[in-house]
Amino acid sequence: MNHLSHRFDGKVALVTAAGNGIGAACARRLSAEGASVAMIDLDAAGLEDTAREMSMDRFLTVTGDCTDGEMLRDFHGKAVAKFGPADILVNNVGQSARRRAGAFHLSEEEVWRFVIEVSLMATMRLTRLVAPSMRERGGAIVNMSSDAAFVGDAGLVDYATAKMGLVGFTRALARELAPHGVTVNAVAPGAVRTKAHDEVPKEAIERIRQTTPAGFVAEPEDVAGVVSFLASQDARFITGQTLLVDGGRWMI
Ligand SMILES: NC(=O)c1ccc[n+]([C@@H]2O[C@H](COP(=O)([O-])OP(=O)(O)OC[C@H]3O[C@@H](n4cnc5c(N)ncnc54)[C@H](O)[C@@H]3O)[C@@H](O)[C@H]2O)c1
Repeated sequence: MNHLSHRFDGKVALVTAAGNGIGAACARRLSAEGASVAMIDLDAAGLEDTAREMSMDRFLTVTGDCTDGEMLRDFHGKAVAKFGPADILVNNVGQSARRRAGAFHLSEEEVWRFVIEVSLMATMRLTRLVAPSMRERGGAIVNMSSDAAFVGDAGLVDYATAKMGLVGFTRALARELAPHGVTVNAVAPGAVRTKAHDEVPKEAIERIRQTTPAGFVAEPEDVAGVVSFLASQDARFITGQTLLVDGGRWMI
């Protein structure tokens, strides 16, 4: 990645669910552009892999569940103790109910709760921890939505609900934090080749690919590049936006 800039030299970034897929790509990208990166994930081996090429003094990993508020507090505390307050927060954690996903009329509240906890509440909780110092020093927050919220993917009502919730969260918080030099944006990826796809039927992925004007499934790095842009000073006049990174599947 030697074509990359040093635009995050001296900056501190927090990335959730950085052990695989899009979160791992975001953490690597921010690190490659100079940031010190604190990462949390359930998957310890995944985190180790993400950090493989990072220098020892510029990363921190915490193995834990982002739906646990105490765990998030511990993660945030460790990150601040090692690197100082966060300049960048990438709220990447989230997922559909995967194997338990299905028709809405058959769905269960316990599953909705899981999806909303992991895809929306975890983001709100960690952001609340980071907001006080960002209000004093400025910063950038990037939330991981999904084009499933815009397209309205059938069988994923709870997921689309949570991911559209993030869009409202992004807008309202952007307005609140803009006077403090903080940008709050979201990214809404279309189909991205990650482990999550192993749990989606192949025909469903193929259907998405066919309805994607670009005609291909993206790589996690395609999303990481956009996250990195939104986290940078190049995007200092962009806030409250949700940028679709979906090969043109949804156009606004
Ligand atoms: N892959 C896609 O096509 C796609 C499309 C749109 C949006 N997204 C969103 O991008 C984000 C990342 O998805 P991905 O495709 O990279 O997934 P992935 O399955 O490749 O990786 C997800 C990571 O999240 C971790 N994780 C899951 N639950 C966790 C929890 N409660 N606490 C801590 N870590 C947890 C997993 O251990 C894993 O390392 C999610 O918010 C997802 O909704 C993905």
